[in-house]
Amino acid sequence: MDKTKANIRISELRDILNEANRRYYVDNAPTLSDYEFDMLMKELEALEKEYPELRTPDSPTQRVGSDLSGDPTSENLQKKEFEQYPHKYPMLSLGNTYDISEVEAFAERAAKGIGNSFTYSCELKFDGTAICLTYRNGKLFRALTRGDGTIGDDVTRNVLHISNIPQYLSVPEGFIPSQSKPNPWPEEFEIRGEIYMPWAAFDRLNEERLKDEEQPFANPRNAASGSLKLIDSRMVANRGLECTLYHLLGEDLPFQTHDQALSAAQTWGLPVSDKRKTCRGIDEIEDFINYWDTERKNLPFATDGIVIKVNELPYQAELGYTAKFPRWATAYKFKAEQALTKLISIDYQVGRTGAVTPVANLEPVQLSGTIVKRASLHNADQMQLLDIHIGDFVYVEKGGEIIPKITAVELSQRPEDAHLPHFPAVCPDCGTPLVKDEQEAKSFCPNQDGCPTQIQAKLVHFLSRKAMNVIAGDATVEQLYNKALVWNIADFYELKKEHLLTLDGWKEKSADRFLKSIQESRNVPFERVLYALGIRHVGETTAKSVAKHFGNIDAIAAADIEQLLNVDDIGEIIAESIYSYFRNPENIEIISRLKAAGLRFEIGEQKVSLSSSLEGLTIVISGNFSISRDQMKELIALNGGKNSGSVSGKTSYLLAGEKAGPEKLKKAESLGVKVISEKEFMAMIAVSHEAEENSPPAVETENIQPTLF
Ligand code: IVH
Repeated sequence: MDKTKANIRISELRDILNEANRRYYVDNAPTLSDYEFDMLMKELEALEKEYPELRTPDSPTQRVGSDLSGDPTSENLQKKEFEQYPHKYPMLSLGNTYDISEVEAFAERAAKGIGNSFTYSCELKFDGTAICLTYRNGKLFRALTRGDGTIGDDVTRNVLHISNIPQYLSVPEGFIPSQSKPNPWPEEFEIRGEIYMPWAAFDRLNEERLKDEEQPFANPRNAASGSLKLIDSRMVANRGLECTLYHLLGEDLPFQTHDQALSAAQTWGLPVSDKRKTCRGIDEIEDFINYWDTERKNLPFATDGIVIKVNELPYQAELGYTAKFPRWATAYKFKAEQALTKLISIDYQVGRTGAVTPVANLEPVQLSGTIVKRASLHNADQMQLLDIHIGDFVYVEKGGEIIPKITAVELSQRPEDAHLPHFPAVCPDCGTPLVKDEQEAKSFCPNQDGCPTQIQAKLVHFLSRKAMNVIAGDATVEQLYNKALVWNIADFYELKKEHLLTLDGWKEKSADRFLKSIQESRNVPFERVLYALGIRHVGETTAKSVAKHFGNIDAIAAADIEQLLNVDDIGEIIAESIYSYFRNPENIEIISRLKAAGLRFEIGEQKVSLSSSLEGLTIVISGNFSISRDQMKELIALNGGKNSGSVSGKTSYLLAGEKAGPEKLKKAESLGVKVISEKEFMAMIAVSHEAEENSPPAVETENIQPTLF
């Protein structure tokens, strides 16, 4: 690929991966399967390797995905619900592969780097959400999520509701305290691991959510991470979360190997997996991988691979880290589990935008811990590609979406009476002839304003959590629609209590609750209102970009295609869709009714911050720090400061790290600009936090260490 094409593809891949990261870590609603994500990441890595000059520090190849609440870099504009604290040691990710020869290459690299004989610790890769626990004097001091790897969300109060995480460590039998060793554990240490949701708890939770007409979680990983971030800590206790710990860190730890460290932690009452093994070479590693590739199906929780770590701690330190991964560990990932089952029939479902999706009804089959009865077939082209017949035996796989997908047909088992399905020519709901959108390979019912399913789906979308967040399920919408109380989204704001009391099973309390929720929706920010309108192709992220770009609905309505194309990430299809939405008089009428009802149609100020300690200060950074330069800039912004690239008379401080540029230092000196170290900078944010909040500082200076070991 030539450089121009590579540049275009790189930027495409970064957008896809950033969005996928956000959906995975922040929304807990993945859009890509792990395999799809990993393959796109590898493509980006390969292009950046071929054209190193196109690599940028903010590329997803250089950063770990961020789960921070209110994280401006992850575009997550939701309120910051947790205190945030820096990690003492960066919380990195793991290199991964689906290819055993790459594990062999990892082992060869490690052997070459170490030059002596050594062992590996092989462990399960737990499919949950990463957690970092700090114990001080035997008591749980703080629990942080990975966040962006540098700063994490403080979820201590929630973690205390996870039954196998001890608040106090226990003294192992036979331990004799001495003056030099009063306790079996170090005075302070960190232990990292994974919080996960076992299959049984996951199934129970999703059943409850379906009953309450809430969206079920796509997989146990998302369920675990969503549960860990619950605002009401008491609810965490009911979610059945568990924890397993796999990485002990601290200063001057008395262990020679990773295995010894974990075994010691276990004797202090910490949950450590016994499904780990010390292996001597690649053959033993492969045996371990093969054993668990089969056995994982019998585990009560999800595992997505095997982690292989150099066991000896001094060798780990020698091998060190890249910006994103340790060089002393890697992960071999299992391909998604597949199940073979019979295709009974195909339903054709009409969605909110009129797209008709074929959904397969299957003979129930067990897959990754759940019973699967339905699977997506995407579109007519996909059905043709698979050459799928009713009665066929098909392979199903779970991807990022909730509904599993059919990936292949087992032709050798095709029964004689198997027959070709017929994609309908007319809408299964309103009978309107379908039109095919060639670009999207989808068939659509064009009767947008008259097809009952489309109307109801638009109403449901409008009320949904990420849109107007009104408490009402699909069944309520169906009743309101069937009783002709609501025909379009503006009708919701004209509902009276007496209308609601006519609905089956509705009493004063439910009606009041609904009306209160409708009232609260008037405060929903503009970008979510824009998303709620249900304009075709305008998802949450696009709505945010468009709202930010134009500032208000009138400007969007007046924009021509060219102006719409000026918005970041908007291509012709989206621009045309927005343009034609605002050219439909019915939509204009609905918007004017919603305006009259008091909904927000203008962007409001939204600023995410940790503190205002750097308010009014302009800081120039130079050199290397214990965190990346981008993360340092983010920290400045989060504390109200401004970062500038060059030293001038307006500069308040030059923040100088290791190997700071001599030019900048000289200029700062000549202009009388104060030069501060990383430690001094961290103290500045910590001290003013104390003064501001009269509570423990959100950023603790002693927690910032320049090295990992
Ligand atoms: S060790 C420096 N061990 O997988 C990184 N990680 O995809 C040390 N994970 O970031 C991590 N099981 O959140 C390690 N046995 C295990 C693990 C494990 C799951 C997670 C962890 C990591 C991610 C990478």
